[in-house]
Amino acid sequence: MLAGEYGAGVAKSLELLVALGEVFGAEKLVPVEGAHVSGVSYKNLGDAGLEWLEDQAKLGARAKVRATLNPAGMDMSRWRDMNVPEKFADRQLRVIQAFEALGIEPTCTCTPYLVGHVPRFGTQIAWAESSAICYSNSILGARTNRESGPTTIASAITGLTPLYEYRLDENRLPGKLVEVEARLKDPLDYSALGYVTGKLVGTTVPYFRGLGKPSLESLKTLGAALATSGGVALWHGEGVTPEAKKVKPHLREVEKVTVEEKDLREAMEKFACEVADPVTCIGCPHCSLHEVGEIASLCKGKEIRKKLWVFTSRGVYAEAERKGYVRHIEDAGGRVYVDTCMVVAPLKEMGWKEVAVNSFKGAQYSANMGLKTKVGTAKELVKEALK
Ligand code: F3S
Repeated sequence: MLAGEYGAGVAKSLELLVALGEVFGAEKLVPVEGAHVSGVSYKNLGDAGLEWLEDQAKLGARAKVRATLNPAGMDMSRWRDMNVPEKFADRQLRVIQAFEALGIEPTCTCTPYLVGHVPRFGTQIAWAESSAICYSNSILGARTNRESGPTTIASAITGLTPLYEYRLDENRLPGKLVEVEARLKDPLDYSALGYVTGKLVGTTVPYFRGLGKPSLESLKTLGAALATSGGVALWHGEGVTPEAKKVKPHLREVEKVTVEEKDLREAMEKFACEVADPVTCIGCPHCSLHEVGEIASLCKGKEIRKKLWVFTSRGVYAEAERKGYVRHIEDAGGRVYVDTCMVVAPLKEMGWKEVAVNSFKGAQYSANMGLKTKVGTAKELVKEALK
């Protein structure tokens, strides 16, 4: 491959992976079963990123393992309705074309595991998107490092990745025991727990005790917040995640920290801005069918006074449409968008100033973008938007 026998695109991709492996002292390259690629929004890529992708596509290489794509900066069909500028849309469509030329499926979601891209336990994969990395490592027990856009593309094209860090048993052991002494009911409580714990553990692997029985929605939002506030790529939960039992004996060697009810309340207060006319955004990470269904039942037959935007994947949207959920939300005046989210869309150009979100990952990003930000449960926020 390096000698160019499989083409320049493959050679360049492998050069990148070999260099990465050398930096991290990897002993060898191993096959990956799939890739999930981030760095899709033109907002983050800019012209330099777009040109780089188009150049890669011109080299003629194609993904040899299944590869899916993270959200882009707009709904590919309804970007005008979103008020996305024409120039942005033009560039974004070119980005997607380049990815398609590379053989990467334009799924444009951060929850590929909800739409059929579900890695098996113990398999090596190359995933980017911090929330999806946390989910695949922790809940599914697959193995990935915190990959970047270029390394996931290179792994998709070569089918390989260097063997280091979270791909090895010894690096999947817990580094801190997190004793949870707080009531966890709504997914937002788990999101707050992720935010607080991420600040306590940084990139260390946490082992949670006292998580209760989290729903899928709670698990995805917990990981998203952990990954954003700390940089966690893998976590264990007693009685919850598949590797917890195996790594439990190592808890003897690690420090214990406790998260209490007051810690979660303090976190909520950090994102409690007074907002007069926010856009309420539900779907960070992208909504599951269950979440869209809950929002639909709150909206059915009502009228929304403020903006309510729901973000999900195309796969979930299709099912939600079939069940009538999309109609209930949109008839009330809300919107259900696919392919994008509030973080990767060009919000400033779209004129946004205030948001209300049901996710600590979303809240951190929007506050960093200078928007007035308020967190609340999906139910609370939808009810406020209906007032
Ligand atoms: Fe997904 Fe966008 Fe949140 S990519 S995790 S919805 S920031």
